[in-house]
Amino acid sequence: MEKEQYDRQKTSNDENSKIHYLNFPKKPKSSIIAAKNLIDKKIESNYPLVEDLVFDLKPSIPTYFVRPNSIKKAASWFLNNFKGDVLYSVKSNPDKSVLQNLFDSGVRNFDVASLPEIKLIRESFGHDVKMYFMNTIKAREAIYEAYFNYGIRNFSLDSFDELNKILEVTKNAKDLGLHLRLAIPNSHAAIDLSGKFGILPTESIELIRKIRSIAKYLGICFHVGSQCMDPSDYRSALMMVKDVLEQSKVKLDVLDIGGGFPSSYPGLTPPNLEVYFNEIYDSLHQLPLDKNCKIWCEPGRALVAESTSLLVRVEGRKKNMLYINDGTYGGLFDAGYPGFIYPTKPIRVKNDQPLSSHLIPFGFYGPVCDSLDTMKGPFYLPANIAEGDYIEIGQLGAYSKTIRTDFNGFSKNLQFEVQDEPLISMYKNNELLAKKKSLRKSVK
Ligand SMILES: Cc1ncc(COP(=O)(O)O)c(C=O)c1O
Repeated sequence: MEKEQYDRQKTSNDENSKIHYLNFPKKPKSSIIAAKNLIDKKIESNYPLVEDLVFDLKPSIPTYFVRPNSIKKAASWFLNNFKGDVLYSVKSNPDKSVLQNLFDSGVRNFDVASLPEIKLIRESFGHDVKMYFMNTIKAREAIYEAYFNYGIRNFSLDSFDELNKILEVTKNAKDLGLHLRLAIPNSHAAIDLSGKFGILPTESIELIRKIRSIAKYLGICFHVGSQCMDPSDYRSALMMVKDVLEQSKVKLDVLDIGGGFPSSYPGLTPPNLEVYFNEIYDSLHQLPLDKNCKIWCEPGRALVAESTSLLVRVEGRKKNMLYINDGTYGGLFDAGYPGFIYPTKPIRVKNDQPLSSHLIPFGFYGPVCDSLDTMKGPFYLPANIAEGDYIEIGQLGAYSKTIRTDFNGFSKNLQFEVQDEPLISMYKNNELLAKKKSLRKSVK
């Protein structure tokens, strides 16, 4: 019976569960909570607590803990405060429970980058949502299926070649929304996307005029880089859009300010999201936009990063290096290169001495046989942390589960929904804005 309850509570795949149940405890303490959770998922406080699950299950493989309440909070913040359409960037976390929680929170627009993402969203939500294919270089087959089989009409691009490709594949469709991606500096972003994507504003005039002459809807989009730490980067980007609009004299139907909104990490504490929005609203007033021009954003990280933590187990220790059971080829890619530092919470389940209150800096080695599987941190943890202890690593709701590999057979993981608060939250200081800036009104 208890096994069944957990079986329904977990959200990972069957293969994972087989491994998981090798360790299944005889009397899990949190089974009652878990069972209640199954009966009424709407009572969020009935989700189990991380510590209960860890003590009960003692998982031998990495385990994700998803916080539905956190997703709800972030989604409602964006939906209430962004005066335009919020497109969730599926690539940041396509996990089904995360998607469902976003949908339940009111998200209905999805930025998709591939055919598998398109299929996933259609299978999950049918025709209740809208998808936007915002990958600048797409396979012909993907464009064909997106347009003819999935009814997608909005595509991004950054070259004449891609424009011709889209037109050829869609048989010169007359109902396209085409969004020209500008390459703009990613000066204060942890992840720089400016080299790979976009056309330089100075080289974009001919192309934007061409698109205007063909597309039903003309858009401009850009990305300030992921984990953008300086709100003024949005202003700089929007001033470049202004130049392009003034030079080309085209009428714009959609202005998509992309993703890049940050989350909070130790050593990377961004200004409040409100500051970003104010900077954006203020800059938008200076652009020659028609009253009907729509404004979109495509957040990934800021919507989901803090929603999910990853529990790892210490398998060995050499001085200040901990050998843990997940790493850069698993859910901790960003802890390797580009060196993100995540918040950590140690959990000791064995009946041993308590964990020391004296914290010292540690680095991590992951489980695979490659020295690139190294995370230098520093991660501050109790000085006596040892083999068998667990570490809950926070802020791993974005760009973690989605980039796991099966290198050395270490891809297996578990997942549970929990009621805990995130280890760090940006939304504490970002409660719904009292004054709602009326961007729409001012643009109209
Ligand atoms: C086109 C596009 N939109 C949105 C995003 C989401 O960015 P972020 O997670 O920084 O918000 C990305 C990330 O790479 C992207 O490439």
